[in-house]
Amino acid sequence: MICLSLTAETFEENLGIIARYRQYIDLLELRADFLGTSACSHLERFPSLTDLPVILTVRRKQDGGAFSGTEADRLRLIAKGLVGGYAYVDLESDLGENQAERIASGKGTRIIRSFHDTRGVPADIPSLLRTLPRTKREIPKAALMCSGSTDLERILHAYAACNDMGKILLGMGDAGFPTRVLTGRLGSLMTYTSAPGTRAAPGHIDPETLSTRYRYRTITGSTRIYGIIGNPVMHTRSPLIHNAGFASLGIDAVYIPFQTDDLEAFFRIADMLPIVGCSVTIPHKEAVLPFLAKQAPDVNAVGACNTMLKTHTGWEGYNTDVQGFLEPLLLRTGTERLARMKATVIGAGGAARAAIYALRSFGVQVLIVNRTREKAEELAKQFGCASAPLSGAYAGIISEFNDIIIQTTSCGMTGHHEENPISEYRFRGTEIAYDIVYSPPVTPFLAQARKAGCMTIGGEEMLTAQGKRQFRLFTGKDLTQEP
Ligand code: ATR
Repeated sequence: MICLSLTAETFEENLGIIARYRQYIDLLELRADFLGTSACSHLERFPSLTDLPVILTVRRKQDGGAFSGTEADRLRLIAKGLVGGYAYVDLESDLGENQAERIASGKGTRIIRSFHDTRGVPADIPSLLRTLPRTKREIPKAALMCSGSTDLERILHAYAACNDMGKILLGMGDAGFPTRVLTGRLGSLMTYTSAPGTRAAPGHIDPETLSTRYRYRTITGSTRIYGIIGNPVMHTRSPLIHNAGFASLGIDAVYIPFQTDDLEAFFRIADMLPIVGCSVTIPHKEAVLPFLAKQAPDVNAVGACNTMLKTHTGWEGYNTDVQGFLEPLLLRTGTERLARMKATVIGAGGAARAAIYALRSFGVQVLIVNRTREKAEELAKQFGCASAPLSGAYAGIISEFNDIIIQTTSCGMTGHHEENPISEYRFRGTEIAYDIVYSPPVTPFLAQARKAGCMTIGGEEMLTAQGKRQFRLFTGKDLTQEP
Protein backbone atom coordinates (compact mmCIF):
# COMPACT_ATOMS: atom_id res chain seq x y z
CA MET A 1 0.00 0.00 0.00
CA ILE A 2 1.10 3.54 -0.71
CA CYS A 3 0.46 5.97 2.12
CA LEU A 4 0.51 9.73 1.48
CA SER A 5 1.77 11.74 4.48
CA LEU A 6 0.03 15.09 4.75
CA THR A 7 2.09 17.89 6.21
CA ALA A 8 0.20 21.06 5.24
CA GLU A 9 -1.05 23.54 7.86
CA THR A 10 -4.74 23.37 6.91
CA PHE A 11 -7.28 20.70 5.96
CA GLU A 12 -7.97 22.54 2.67
CA GLU A 13 -4.35 22.38 1.57
CA ASN A 14 -4.15 18.71 2.55
CA LEU A 15 -7.34 17.92 0.62
CA GLY A 16 -5.81 19.61 -2.42
CA ILE A 17 -2.73 17.37 -2.14
CA ILE A 18 -4.95 14.28 -1.82
CA ALA A 19 -6.87 15.27 -4.97
CA ARG A 20 -3.58 15.71 -6.84
CA TYR A 21 -2.36 12.19 -5.99
CA ARG A 22 -5.66 10.34 -5.46
CA GLN A 23 -5.12 7.76 -8.21
CA TYR A 24 -1.77 6.64 -6.78
CA ILE A 25 -2.55 6.17 -3.08
CA ASP A 26 -4.28 3.67 -0.78
CA LEU A 27 -4.30 5.51 2.52
CA LEU A 28 -3.36 8.76 4.21
CA GLU A 29 -1.32 9.78 7.19
CA LEU A 30 -2.47 13.06 8.70
CA ARG A 31 0.62 14.53 10.30
CA ALA A 32 -1.18 16.71 12.84
CA ASP A 33 2.18 17.93 14.17
CA PHE A 34 2.30 20.18 11.08
CA LEU A 35 -1.31 21.43 11.36
CA GLY A 36 -2.12 24.98 12.47
CA THR A 37 -4.06 25.54 15.72
CA SER A 38 -7.38 26.09 13.97
CA ALA A 39 -7.19 22.73 12.13
CA CYS A 40 -6.06 21.00 15.36
CA SER A 41 -9.19 22.22 17.10
CA HIS A 42 -11.25 20.18 14.56
CA LEU A 43 -8.97 17.17 14.32
CA GLU A 44 -11.84 14.71 14.78
CA ARG A 45 -13.47 15.95 11.55
CA PHE A 46 -10.74 14.99 9.13
CA PRO A 47 -11.66 11.30 8.49
CA SER A 48 -15.13 12.36 7.31
CA LEU A 49 -13.59 14.66 4.67
CA THR A 50 -12.06 11.78 2.66
CA ASP A 51 -13.02 8.30 1.50
CA LEU A 52 -9.55 6.92 2.22
CA PRO A 53 -8.48 5.31 5.51
CA VAL A 54 -6.47 7.76 7.61
CA ILE A 55 -3.62 7.26 10.08
CA LEU A 56 -3.52 9.92 12.80
CA THR A 57 0.05 10.85 13.71
CA VAL A 58 1.34 13.62 15.95
CA ARG A 59 5.07 13.17 15.67
CA ARG A 60 7.45 14.45 18.37
CA LYS A 61 10.53 16.49 17.47
CA GLN A 62 12.83 13.77 18.85
CA ASP A 63 11.34 11.34 16.31
CA GLY A 64 11.78 13.70 13.37
CA GLY A 65 8.39 15.42 13.76
CA ALA A 66 7.32 19.01 14.42
CA PHE A 67 5.22 18.83 17.63
CA SER A 68 6.81 21.10 20.20
CA GLY A 69 4.19 21.13 23.00
CA THR A 70 4.21 18.98 26.14
CA GLU A 71 3.62 15.24 26.05
CA ALA A 72 0.33 15.70 27.93
CA ASP A 73 -0.84 18.18 25.25
CA ARG A 74 0.15 15.77 22.49
CA LEU A 75 -1.77 12.85 24.00
CA ARG A 76 -4.80 15.11 24.58
CA LEU A 77 -4.69 16.15 20.93
CA ILE A 78 -4.48 12.54 19.74
CA ALA A 79 -7.33 11.48 22.03
CA LYS A 80 -9.51 14.34 20.79
CA GLY A 81 -8.84 13.42 17.17
CA LEU A 82 -9.55 9.72 17.68
CA VAL A 83 -13.13 10.49 18.69
CA GLY A 84 -13.67 11.11 14.93
CA GLY A 85 -12.94 7.45 14.11
CA TYR A 86 -9.54 7.24 12.40
CA ALA A 87 -8.64 3.89 10.79
CA TYR A 88 -5.19 3.89 12.43
CA VAL A 89 -3.25 5.83 15.03
CA ASP A 90 0.52 5.95 15.25
CA LEU A 91 1.64 5.62 18.87
CA GLU A 92 5.27 5.42 19.89
CA SER A 93 6.75 2.36 21.57
CA ASP A 94 7.78 4.22 24.72
CA LEU A 95 4.29 5.47 25.61
CA GLY A 96 2.69 4.15 28.77
CA GLU A 97 -1.02 3.37 29.00
CA ASN A 98 -3.02 6.45 28.11
CA GLN A 99 -6.42 7.82 27.25
CA ALA A 100 -5.70 7.84 23.50
CA GLU A 101 -5.25 4.06 23.51
CA ARG A 102 -8.53 3.54 25.35
CA ILE A 103 -10.40 5.69 22.81
CA ALA A 104 -8.67 3.89 19.93
CA SER A 105 -9.78 0.53 21.26
CA GLY A 106 -13.37 1.77 21.72
CA LYS A 107 -13.51 3.13 18.16
CA GLY A 108 -11.90 0.13 16.48
CA THR A 109 -8.85 2.20 15.50
CA ARG A 110 -5.78 0.02 14.86
CA ILE A 111 -2.63 1.05 16.64
CA ILE A 112 0.62 1.31 14.67
CA ARG A 113 3.22 0.86 17.41
CA SER A 114 6.17 2.84 16.13
CA PHE A 115 9.86 3.12 16.80
CA HIS A 116 11.97 5.82 15.17
CA ASP A 117 15.70 6.16 15.11
CA THR A 118 16.66 9.36 13.28
CA ARG A 119 20.38 8.73 13.83
CA GLY A 120 21.03 5.13 12.93
CA VAL A 121 19.94 1.50 12.83
CA PRO A 122 19.66 -0.42 16.14
CA ALA A 123 21.64 -3.63 16.61
CA ASP A 124 18.80 -6.14 16.75
CA ILE A 125 15.94 -5.06 14.49
CA PRO A 126 14.09 -8.43 14.49
CA SER A 127 13.82 -8.48 18.32
CA LEU A 128 12.69 -4.87 18.25
CA LEU A 129 9.93 -5.61 15.73
CA ARG A 130 8.75 -8.66 17.64
CA THR A 131 8.51 -6.84 20.97
CA LEU A 132 6.80 -3.69 19.67
CA PRO A 133 3.16 -4.89 19.43
CA ARG A 134 1.27 -5.06 22.75
CA THR A 135 -1.76 -6.88 21.31
CA LYS A 136 -2.30 -9.04 18.22
CA ARG A 137 -4.08 -6.16 16.48
CA GLU A 138 -1.18 -3.74 16.79
CA ILE A 139 1.08 -3.23 13.76
CA PRO A 140 4.78 -2.80 14.57
CA LYS A 141 6.59 -0.04 12.68
CA ALA A 142 10.31 0.77 12.63
CA ALA A 143 11.63 3.74 10.66
CA LEU A 144 15.43 3.75 10.84
CA MET A 145 17.96 6.23 9.48
CA CYS A 146 20.17 4.48 6.95
CA SER A 147 23.44 6.32 6.58
CA GLY A 148 25.23 3.77 4.41
CA SER A 149 25.29 0.37 2.76
CA THR A 150 25.81 -1.65 5.95
CA ASP A 151 22.69 -0.05 7.50
CA LEU A 152 20.67 -1.06 4.44
CA GLU A 153 22.12 -4.56 4.62
CA ARG A 154 21.01 -4.93 8.25
CA ILE A 155 17.49 -3.78 7.43
CA LEU A 156 17.31 -6.29 4.58
CA HIS A 157 18.38 -9.08 6.96
CA ALA A 158 15.61 -7.98 9.33
CA TYR A 159 12.97 -8.29 6.58
CA ALA A 160 14.12 -11.85 5.96
CA ALA A 161 14.17 -12.72 9.68
CA CYS A 162 10.65 -11.33 10.21
CA ASN A 163 8.92 -12.52 7.04
CA ASP A 164 6.32 -14.35 9.13
CA MET A 165 4.86 -11.17 10.64
CA GLY A 166 2.90 -8.13 9.48
CA LYS A 167 5.04 -5.02 9.92
CA ILE A 168 6.11 -1.67 8.58
CA LEU A 169 9.88 -1.46 8.21
CA LEU A 170 11.57 1.39 6.37
CA GLY A 171 15.05 2.79 5.90
CA MET A 172 15.09 6.59 5.99
CA GLY A 173 17.59 8.72 4.09
CA ASP A 174 19.05 8.26 0.59
CA ALA A 175 20.81 4.98 1.46
CA GLY A 176 17.47 3.55 2.64
CA PHE A 177 15.64 4.52 -0.55
CA PRO A 178 15.45 0.95 -2.00
CA THR A 179 13.31 -0.09 1.00
CA ARG A 180 10.74 2.55 0.03
CA VAL A 181 10.40 1.12 -3.47
CA LEU A 182 10.61 -2.58 -2.58
CA THR A 183 8.27 -2.59 0.46
CA GLY A 184 5.83 -5.06 -1.11
CA ARG A 185 8.56 -7.39 -2.30
CA LEU A 186 10.41 -7.28 1.02
CA GLY A 187 7.32 -7.63 3.20
CA SER A 188 6.37 -4.26 4.64
CA LEU A 189 2.66 -3.45 4.80
CA MET A 190 3.08 0.03 3.41
CA THR A 191 5.44 2.67 2.13
CA TYR A 192 5.16 6.36 2.96
CA THR A 193 5.28 9.17 0.40
CA SER A 194 4.70 12.91 0.45
CA ALA A 195 4.22 15.81 -1.93
CA PRO A 196 7.49 17.37 -3.21
CA GLY A 197 8.92 20.07 -0.96
CA THR A 198 7.20 18.82 2.22
CA ARG A 199 9.02 17.81 5.34
CA ALA A 200 7.42 14.50 6.25
CA ALA A 201 10.58 12.33 6.46
CA PRO A 202 14.02 12.03 4.84
CA GLY A 203 13.90 9.87 1.71
CA HIS A 204 10.23 10.30 0.81
CA ILE A 205 9.30 10.70 -2.82
CA ASP A 206 5.90 11.62 -4.17
CA PRO A 207 3.33 8.88 -4.90
CA GLU A 208 3.25 9.58 -8.63
CA THR A 209 7.02 9.16 -9.03
CA LEU A 210 6.92 5.99 -6.92
CA SER A 211 4.11 4.53 -9.05
CA THR A 212 5.18 5.66 -12.49
CA ARG A 213 8.97 5.96 -12.47
CA TYR A 214 9.60 3.20 -9.91
CA ARG A 215 6.74 0.93 -11.07
CA TYR A 216 5.65 0.26 -7.46
CA ARG A 217 2.38 -1.49 -8.32
CA THR A 218 4.01 -3.91 -10.75
CA ILE A 219 6.79 -5.16 -8.45
CA THR A 220 6.30 -8.78 -7.38
CA GLY A 221 8.50 -11.61 -6.14
CA SER A 222 9.59 -12.36 -9.71
CA THR A 223 10.39 -8.78 -10.81
CA ARG A 224 14.03 -8.48 -11.88
CA ILE A 225 15.90 -5.84 -9.87
CA TYR A 226 18.48 -3.58 -11.53
CA GLY A 227 20.26 -0.71 -9.86
CA ILE A 228 22.82 2.02 -10.01
CA ILE A 229 25.57 2.39 -7.42
CA GLY A 230 27.25 5.70 -6.75
CA ASN A 231 27.79 8.21 -3.97
CA PRO A 232 25.88 10.49 -4.24
CA VAL A 233 23.43 8.83 -6.59
CA MET A 234 19.94 10.21 -6.05
CA HIS A 235 20.39 12.95 -8.67
CA THR A 236 21.13 10.51 -11.50
CA ARG A 237 18.83 10.39 -14.52
CA SER A 238 19.49 6.70 -15.21
CA PRO A 239 16.36 5.42 -13.36
CA LEU A 240 14.29 7.51 -15.75
CA ILE A 241 15.93 5.94 -18.82
CA HIS A 242 15.80 2.31 -17.71
CA ASN A 243 12.43 2.23 -15.96
CA ALA A 244 10.79 3.98 -18.94
CA GLY A 245 12.39 1.33 -21.17
CA PHE A 246 11.10 -1.55 -19.01
CA ALA A 247 7.60 -0.03 -19.00
CA SER A 248 7.44 0.58 -22.75
CA LEU A 249 8.66 -2.93 -23.59
CA GLY A 250 6.52 -4.65 -20.95
CA ILE A 251 9.57 -6.03 -19.11
CA ASP A 252 8.94 -7.13 -15.52
CA ALA A 253 11.87 -5.24 -13.98
CA VAL A 254 12.69 -2.19 -11.87
CA TYR A 255 15.80 0.02 -11.69
CA ILE A 256 16.64 1.62 -8.34
CA PRO A 257 19.41 3.94 -7.08
CA PHE A 258 21.58 2.41 -4.33
CA GLN A 259 23.63 5.05 -2.55
CA THR A 260 26.73 3.01 -1.82
CA ASP A 261 29.61 3.80 0.52
CA ASP A 262 30.82 0.22 0.99
CA LEU A 263 31.21 -2.01 -2.06
CA GLU A 264 31.59 -5.26 -0.10
CA ALA A 265 28.28 -4.58 1.64
CA PHE A 266 26.69 -3.66 -1.69
CA PHE A 267 27.67 -6.98 -3.29
CA ARG A 268 26.16 -8.83 -0.31
CA ILE A 269 22.97 -6.76 -0.75
CA ALA A 270 23.02 -7.61 -4.45
CA ASP A 271 23.12 -11.34 -3.63
CA MET A 272 20.33 -10.98 -1.10
CA LEU A 273 17.76 -9.13 -3.21
CA PRO A 274 19.00 -10.36 -5.80
CA ILE A 275 20.18 -7.61 -8.18
CA VAL A 276 20.75 -8.94 -11.71
CA GLY A 277 22.34 -5.92 -13.38
CA CYS A 278 23.83 -2.66 -12.24
CA SER A 279 25.12 0.66 -13.51
CA VAL A 280 28.20 2.02 -11.80
CA THR A 281 28.94 5.70 -11.37
CA ILE A 282 31.31 8.02 -9.49
CA PRO A 283 33.22 7.13 -7.32
CA HIS A 284 33.00 3.37 -7.93
CA LYS A 285 33.89 2.88 -11.62
CA GLU A 286 37.44 1.78 -10.84
CA ALA A 287 36.84 0.34 -7.38
CA VAL A 288 34.44 -2.36 -8.65
CA LEU A 289 37.14 -4.00 -10.83
CA PRO A 290 38.38 -6.43 -8.13
CA PHE A 291 34.80 -7.68 -7.68
CA LEU A 292 34.43 -8.70 -11.33
CA ALA A 293 34.81 -12.33 -12.42
CA LYS A 294 35.14 -11.24 -16.06
CA GLN A 295 35.91 -7.94 -17.80
CA ALA A 296 35.06 -6.81 -21.33
CA PRO A 297 38.10 -5.51 -23.33
CA ASP A 298 36.93 -1.87 -22.95
CA VAL A 299 36.96 -2.25 -19.16
CA ASN A 300 40.51 -3.53 -19.25
CA ALA A 301 41.72 -0.80 -21.57
CA VAL A 302 40.03 2.09 -19.76
CA GLY A 303 40.51 0.67 -16.27
CA ALA A 304 36.90 1.51 -15.44
CA CYS A 305 33.56 -0.28 -15.49
CA ASN A 306 30.13 1.37 -15.68
CA THR A 307 27.92 -1.69 -16.22
CA MET A 308 27.79 -5.02 -14.36
CA LEU A 309 25.77 -8.12 -15.12
CA LYS A 310 25.26 -11.03 -12.74
CA THR A 311 25.88 -14.40 -14.37
CA HIS A 312 26.08 -17.88 -12.87
CA THR A 313 29.86 -17.49 -12.66
CA GLY A 314 29.85 -14.07 -10.99
CA TRP A 315 29.73 -10.42 -12.03
CA GLU A 316 30.75 -9.44 -15.57
CA GLY A 317 31.95 -5.88 -16.17
CA TYR A 318 31.36 -3.73 -19.27
CA ASN A 319 32.11 -0.14 -20.21
CA THR A 320 29.41 1.54 -22.28
CA ASP A 321 30.94 5.00 -21.71
CA VAL A 322 33.44 4.38 -24.52
CA GLN A 323 30.84 3.73 -27.24
CA GLY A 324 28.43 6.18 -25.57
CA PHE A 325 31.08 8.87 -25.90
CA LEU A 326 31.83 8.02 -29.54
CA GLU A 327 28.26 7.81 -30.84
CA PRO A 328 27.37 11.55 -30.78
CA LEU A 329 30.79 12.40 -32.21
CA LEU A 330 30.58 9.88 -35.07
CA LEU A 331 27.13 11.21 -35.90
CA ARG A 332 28.80 14.55 -36.71
CA THR A 333 32.05 13.37 -38.28
CA GLY A 334 31.62 9.86 -39.69
CA THR A 335 34.38 7.32 -39.10
CA GLU A 336 36.79 8.34 -41.86
CA ARG A 337 36.82 12.03 -41.04
CA LEU A 338 37.17 11.32 -37.31
CA ALA A 339 40.30 9.23 -37.95
CA ARG A 340 42.01 12.23 -39.58
CA MET A 341 41.15 14.67 -36.79
CA LYS A 342 43.19 16.12 -33.95
CA ALA A 343 41.59 16.46 -30.53
CA THR A 344 42.24 18.06 -27.15
CA VAL A 345 40.92 16.34 -24.02
CA ILE A 346 40.68 18.57 -20.96
CA GLY A 347 41.06 16.57 -17.75
CA ALA A 348 42.82 13.32 -16.88
CA GLY A 349 40.33 11.51 -14.65
CA GLY A 350 38.20 8.42 -15.27
CA ALA A 351 35.91 10.14 -17.81
CA ALA A 352 38.94 11.47 -19.71
CA ARG A 353 40.42 7.95 -19.90
CA ALA A 354 37.28 6.60 -21.61
CA ALA A 355 37.30 9.50 -24.11
CA ILE A 356 41.04 9.19 -24.83
CA TYR A 357 40.81 5.42 -25.32
CA ALA A 358 37.81 5.86 -27.64
CA LEU A 359 39.57 8.53 -29.73
CA ARG A 360 42.85 6.63 -29.94
CA SER A 361 40.99 3.50 -31.09
CA PHE A 362 40.10 5.54 -34.21
CA GLY A 363 43.66 6.81 -34.61
CA VAL A 364 42.79 10.39 -33.57
CA GLN A 365 45.85 12.42 -32.47
CA VAL A 366 45.15 13.57 -28.92
CA LEU A 367 46.49 16.30 -26.65
CA ILE A 368 45.69 15.89 -22.94
CA VAL A 369 45.49 19.14 -20.97
CA ASN A 370 45.14 18.80 -17.22
CA ARG A 371 45.46 20.90 -14.06
CA THR A 372 47.87 18.36 -12.57
CA ARG A 373 50.64 18.01 -15.13
CA GLU A 374 51.83 14.56 -13.95
CA LYS A 375 48.42 12.96 -14.48
CA ALA A 376 48.28 14.27 -18.05
CA GLU A 377 51.81 13.00 -18.72
CA GLU A 378 51.02 9.55 -17.33
CA LEU A 379 47.91 9.15 -19.48
CA ALA A 380 49.74 10.53 -22.52
CA LYS A 381 52.43 7.89 -22.08
CA GLN A 382 49.90 5.10 -21.75
CA PHE A 383 47.80 6.04 -24.79
CA GLY A 384 50.45 7.65 -27.02
CA CYS A 385 49.26 11.26 -26.75
CA ALA A 386 50.74 14.74 -26.28
CA SER A 387 50.22 16.50 -22.94
CA ALA A 388 50.25 19.97 -21.42
CA PRO A 389 49.42 21.49 -18.03
CA LEU A 390 46.36 23.72 -17.65
CA SER A 391 48.52 26.73 -16.95
CA GLY A 392 50.87 28.96 -18.91
CA ALA A 393 50.66 28.90 -22.68
CA TYR A 394 48.12 26.06 -23.02
CA ALA A 395 45.93 28.04 -25.48
CA GLY A 396 48.64 28.00 -28.14
CA ILE A 397 49.21 24.25 -27.78
CA ILE A 398 45.46 23.55 -28.01
CA SER A 399 45.43 25.44 -31.33
CA GLU A 400 47.46 22.59 -32.77
CA PHE A 401 44.87 19.96 -31.68
CA ASN A 402 41.60 21.79 -32.13
CA ASP A 403 39.38 19.91 -34.57
CA ILE A 404 37.60 18.58 -31.50
CA ILE A 405 37.86 19.87 -27.91
CA ILE A 406 36.44 17.67 -25.18
CA GLN A 407 35.76 18.91 -21.66
CA THR A 408 35.77 16.07 -19.09
CA THR A 409 36.30 17.87 -15.75
CA SER A 410 33.55 18.84 -13.32
CA CYS A 411 34.02 22.54 -14.22
CA GLY A 412 30.70 24.10 -15.19
CA MET A 413 28.64 21.35 -13.55
CA THR A 414 25.57 22.50 -11.61
CA GLY A 415 26.68 23.14 -8.03
CA HIS A 416 30.34 23.68 -8.95
CA HIS A 417 31.71 27.20 -9.03
CA GLU A 418 34.46 26.74 -11.61
CA GLU A 419 33.66 28.03 -15.07
CA ASN A 420 35.16 27.18 -18.45
CA PRO A 421 38.56 25.55 -17.63
CA ILE A 422 40.13 26.83 -20.90
CA SER A 423 38.75 30.37 -20.77
CA GLU A 424 41.99 31.73 -22.26
CA TYR A 425 41.60 29.69 -25.43
CA ARG A 426 39.87 31.61 -28.26
CA PHE A 427 37.53 29.36 -30.29
CA ARG A 428 37.82 29.87 -34.05
CA GLY A 429 34.34 28.55 -34.76
CA THR A 430 35.56 25.48 -36.66
CA GLU A 431 36.01 23.25 -33.58
CA ILE A 432 33.57 20.60 -32.44
CA ALA A 433 33.17 21.39 -28.71
CA TYR A 434 32.03 18.42 -26.63
CA ASP A 435 31.27 18.67 -22.90
CA ILE A 436 30.49 15.44 -21.09
CA VAL A 437 28.81 17.39 -18.24
CA TYR A 438 25.02 17.09 -18.76
CA SER A 439 23.74 19.42 -16.10
CA PRO A 440 23.38 22.24 -17.07
CA PRO A 441 22.72 21.35 -20.74
CA VAL A 442 24.87 24.30 -21.86
CA THR A 443 28.00 24.71 -19.71
CA PRO A 444 30.15 27.87 -19.77
CA PHE A 445 32.60 25.94 -22.01
CA LEU A 446 29.84 25.14 -24.52
CA ALA A 447 28.39 28.65 -24.30
CA GLN A 448 31.75 30.18 -25.23
CA ALA A 449 32.18 27.72 -28.12
CA ARG A 450 28.66 28.40 -29.40
CA LYS A 451 29.27 32.13 -29.34
CA ALA A 452 32.21 31.60 -31.67
CA GLY A 453 30.02 29.53 -34.01
CA CYS A 454 31.29 26.04 -33.09
CA MET A 455 29.30 22.85 -33.45
CA THR A 456 28.60 21.69 -29.86
CA ILE A 457 27.72 18.39 -28.18
CA GLY A 458 26.24 18.35 -24.66
CA GLY A 459 26.72 15.54 -22.11
CA GLU A 460 23.06 14.53 -22.34
CA GLU A 461 23.74 12.85 -25.68
CA MET A 462 26.52 10.70 -24.23
CA LEU A 463 24.38 9.84 -21.20
CA THR A 464 21.56 8.64 -23.43
CA ALA A 465 23.89 6.76 -25.80
CA GLN A 466 25.68 4.90 -22.97
CA GLY A 467 22.29 4.23 -21.31
CA LYS A 468 20.93 2.64 -24.48
CA ARG A 469 23.91 0.29 -24.65
CA GLN A 470 23.50 -0.51 -20.98
CA PHE A 471 19.82 -1.29 -21.53
CA ARG A 472 20.72 -3.69 -24.35
CA LEU A 473 23.21 -5.46 -22.05
CA PHE A 474 20.58 -5.64 -19.28
CA THR A 475 17.68 -6.90 -21.40
CA GLY A 476 18.95 -7.95 -24.83
CA LYS A 477 16.44 -5.47 -26.26
CA ASP A 478 16.68 -2.00 -27.78
CA LEU A 479 15.44 0.99 -25.86
CA THR A 480 12.66 2.21 -28.08
CA GLN A 481 11.26 5.06 -26.06
CA GLU A 482 13.28 7.87 -24.57
CA PRO A 483 12.00 9.41 -21.34
P1 ATR B 1 36.02 11.63 -13.32
O1 ATR B 1 36.06 10.14 -13.07
O2 ATR B 1 34.61 12.18 -13.37
O3 ATR B 1 36.78 12.02 -14.54
P2 ATR B 1 38.15 12.32 -11.54
O4 ATR B 1 38.80 11.04 -11.85
O5 ATR B 1 38.10 12.77 -10.13
O6 ATR B 1 36.65 12.32 -12.05
O7 ATR B 1 38.85 13.46 -12.46
C1 ATR B 1 38.48 14.78 -12.41
C2 ATR B 1 39.28 15.56 -13.45
O8 ATR B 1 38.79 16.91 -13.45
C3 ATR B 1 40.76 15.64 -13.14
O9 ATR B 1 41.45 15.68 -14.35
C4 ATR B 1 40.87 16.98 -12.41
O10 ATR B 1 42.12 17.60 -12.49
P3 ATR B 1 43.32 17.15 -11.52
O11 ATR B 1 43.91 15.91 -12.11
O12 ATR B 1 44.27 18.29 -11.53
O13 ATR B 1 42.71 16.91 -10.17
C5 ATR B 1 39.87 17.80 -13.17
N1 ATR B 1 39.37 18.95 -12.41
C6 ATR B 1 38.54 18.92 -11.36
N2 ATR B 1 38.29 20.17 -10.94
C7 ATR B 1 38.99 21.01 -11.74
C8 ATR B 1 39.15 22.43 -11.82
N3 ATR B 1 38.53 23.23 -10.96
N4 ATR B 1 39.94 22.94 -12.78
C9 ATR B 1 40.57 22.12 -13.65
N5 ATR B 1 40.47 20.77 -13.63
C10 ATR B 1 39.68 20.22 -12.70
